[in-house]
Amino acid sequence: MALQLTISYLLLILAILELSNGQNDWQIGPFIKDDAVNPFMGPRNDTRFACPVRKETIAWEAKDVFNPTAIVQNNVVKLFYRAEDYEGAYKGTSRIGLAISSDGLNFTRITSPIFFPDNDTSLIYEWEGGCEDPRITLNENGTYFMTYTAYNGSLARLMHPQIIQILHSGQNTAQFSKMLMGEDLLTSGQNLARLCQQLLMSP
Ligand SMILES: *[C@@H]1O[C@H](CO)[C@@H](O)[C@H](O)[C@H]1NC(C)=O
Ligand SMILES: *[C@@H]1O[C@H](CO)[C@@H](O)[C@H](O)[C@H]1NC(C)=O
Ligand SMILES: *[C@@H]1O[C@H](CO)[C@@H](O)[C@H](O)[C@H]1NC(C)=O
Ligand SMILES: *[C@@H]1O[C@H](CO)[C@@H](O)[C@H](O)[C@H]1NC(C)=O
Ligand SMILES: *[C@@H]1O[C@H](CO)[C@@H](O)[C@H](O)[C@H]1NC(C)=O
Repeated sequence: MALQLTISYLLLILAILELSNGQNDWQIGPFIKDDAVNPFMGPRNDTRFACPVRKETIAWEAKDVFNPTAIVQNNVVKLFYRAEDYEGAYKGTSRIGLAISSDGLNFTRITSPIFFPDNDTSLIYEWEGGCEDPRITLNENGTYFMTYTAYNGSLARLMHPQIIQILHSGQNTAQFSKMLMGEDLLTSGQNLARLCQQLLMSP
């Protein structure tokens, strides 16, 4: 069954954080659960993407959407999420999509992935499992960095850093540099950050 990205999933994590809210100065929150739209995103078959590796147009988010990261920029929530198609050896290659919202509930999705396996030097790490599990932090100079997991079908690798022009230009186009951070590291969430004025900042 296709996974669905639910508000509950996000809020579970936030609720765990909130358990001891106020006791640790690194914690953000408190958060209030809003069930008005739940789930607020699911897989869809009507968005197509011309995959430069497969050289076919595919329904890139038909199977599932999950494991996102969110930033808030000028009062707009930008949610970077992992999406899978039904293609290939694993019946699922991952790419990263972008959904935008002004209220955190009603999201407008960009119809193409904004980060994906391409015919570049990282393809040996990314094919054909794909690009998974984005995490984003800001540094003190206002530059956003993204880590993600590259999966070649047998080994998951942490990739870093990605300078995300999409966030700086305000446009929905992106230019990325990909870099291998380490072999055989565990996957998502490995973007160590510190709390600075209610923002998670890169060290
Ligand atoms: C997309 O298409 C596949 C294959 O026809 C189908 O199994 C799946 O349920 C569809 N998913 C959605 C979200 O419509
Ligand atoms: C959600 O946002 C879109 C785009 O801004 C808008 O067209 C639509 O009416 C909104 N839907 C709801 C339920 O607020
Ligand atoms: C992929 O990139 C390599 C190296 O740049 C190039 O030699 C090759 O022709 C490209 N393949 C395709 C299918 O574009
Ligand atoms: C911020 O920019 C300055 C000047 O380019 C640089 O020396 C410094 O390392 C940067 N700090 C971070 C955290 O990237
Ligand atoms: C994935 O990468 C590892 C390490 O380089 C390699 O041993 C393995 O054969 C690769 N797997 C695939 C399916 O390409």
